[in-house]
Order: sequence, then C-alpha cells, then structure tokens
Amino acid sequence: MKAAEGHGFGKTILFGEHFVVYGLPAIASAIGSKTTAVIEPADRYELVDLRPATPGYKEEKHGEQVESNRLIFSACKVDVEETPFKLTLGGDLIAASGVGASAASAAAIARALNQYFELGYDDAHINALAYEGEKGYHGKPSGIDNTAAVYGGLIWFAKNLKGGENTMDLLKMPRPVEIVLGNTGITASTKEVVEDVRRNREKDPKKYGRIFAKYGEIVVSARKAITEGDLEAVGRLMDRNHELLEEMTVSCDELDLLVGVAREEGAAGAKMTGTGRGGLMVALTPGKHLQDKVAEAIEGEGFVAYKTKIGI
Ligand code: MEV
Repeated sequence: MKAAEGHGFGKTILFGEHFVVYGLPAIASAIGSKTTAVIEPADRYELVDLRPATPGYKEEKHGEQVESNRLIFSACKVDVEETPFKLTLGGDLIAASGVGASAASAAAIARALNQYFELGYDDAHINALAYEGEKGYHGKPSGIDNTAAVYGGLIWFAKNLKGGENTMDLLKMPRPVEIVLGNTGITASTKEVVEDVRRNREKDPKKYGRIFAKYGEIVVSARKAITEGDLEAVGRLMDRNHELLEEMTVSCDELDLLVGVAREEGAAGAKMTGTGRGGLMVALTPGKHLQDKVAEAIEGEGFVAYKTKIGI
C-alpha cells in the first residue's frame, strides 16, 4: 500500500458557539492553518502526534483522541490489527481549545484513510466520518467544527435538530480580513461546558430564552454585515455575542482580559471563540498594522497570539 495524506482546516467561530447546539445558525471561518494526517504501512498500528500544541492539551485529550480515532476506523470498517499502519499527525494548526483542532484532525484522518484504503468517499462522506470522530471528544457535537474542517471557507451553519441534513451556506466576504487569536493557554472540555450550558438553560428557561432571542437577531445582522464587508458592524456584533456568552458563564477571566486588551488597542470587535472557559479569543483587526498592534499587546500581557485571516 502507498502512503497517503489528508488535511483538515482549523477554524474560528465568529458567531454562535453553544447556540448552534440548539439549532440556531452560526458563522465560522477557516483560518490559514491546517492539520495533516499521513498514513504509511507499518508492522503494528502506531499514532505519532507531531502537531504544535498548547502545553498539556495533547495529554488531556489523549483518551478522547484514542476514542475518536476508534470511531473513525470503525465507521470506515478499518481493523488496525488486520491492516496496521503508522498514523502521523502534523501541520501548522496549533492543537488547542477553540480552533477546531479535534475536528481538523478527524477530517485529516478521514481523508488519509479514504486515500490509503481507496474507499472512494466524497466530501459529504468525509464530513460524516469527521462528525463520528468529533463524538469521541464530545457526545453530541453540533457538526459545525467538522463541517468547517472539511469544506474550509466561510460558512453559515445550522444543525438540523430533527436529524435530517444540516444547513450549510458558503458565504463570501468582499476581501479576506485580518484577525488575531489570543490563546489563554487553558484547555477546556467541550463536553463539560456544553453539558453545563444545557443544565443552566433547563434551570432558567426564561433567562436563556431572552439570551437566545437576542442571539438570533445578532446572527442575522452578522450575515448581512459580513457579506457586505461592513467590518465595523461585524465587530460590534461580535462584541454583543461575547456579552451573551458571558451571561451564559462560558467566558472566563482570561478570555475577558484578552477581549478587553484587543478592544483597547482598537480591534473592531472581539469575543471568545469555540467552547470557552479557556481556549481562544478572536479579535477582528482589519489591516496589518492593527493586527500587529493587537497581537503585540496580547503578547505583552504574557499570552500567545496568532495572526491569520478569515474569508480566505
Ligand atoms: C465548539 O467548538 C463549539 C460548540 O458550539 C460545541 C458544538 O458546536 O458542538 C461549543
């Protein structure tokens, strides 16, 4: 058998983490970094993880990663005892909470298996496999992360709660825009945070009803602002989305600090992105100069900052 390689895109959620679990639409964009998976023949199955990572991330996620890979292999009917191989994860996407690292690796592995075993799967099938893999990291993923990881681009995504096909529209921005991702360095458990939101929502349906209704308005305006390239409006809406996530207690001091620094330096808007309670913050920083300024300020506070673009 010949060696094979697959990739999965990293992403940032611009609008709608957590809300998307309940069927509300969300907007995510691929970023300029990927995870790669290389499969080569070997005498016994071996997983080598060379991805750059937030310290502690790989160790904390190891059990979930093993389960995720098992789910993908089983969905592809691949038996690693019968047909062993060496699976090497790499690429330039940081393995951290908030960039869709688990989904990017699931998509990369699914693509590599598809090529290695000549399975003939199309992108929709690869996406279904990446979704299976995501289940290893958290029981009921909305599907936004694997969809962004497989297709890339800028997407409007809504989960079909009845189990039918999810909605995915590819959006276009007039031009790619600079962003800064600030890493709290804290690894979060998506499973735990999603479950906590579910419990809190059940306890206080009135409060959550109000928050969800506000978010519903934000995301519709955000779609319009993004496609029209109205970056001031996009930034303002990101700020409002962050406030709602704060009310839902999924932000944390470190994320709020990073959001505050980005805004002080002139970012058009900033919010936590992904699971929250750690992980990453995303700031909209149109233009190289503003992007550098925000990234430097974040690093000045002792955090790691990544400069990339959305709408690529
Ligand atoms: C995690 O990247 C995004 C969440 O909305 C979970 C999900 O959509 O499955 C928190």
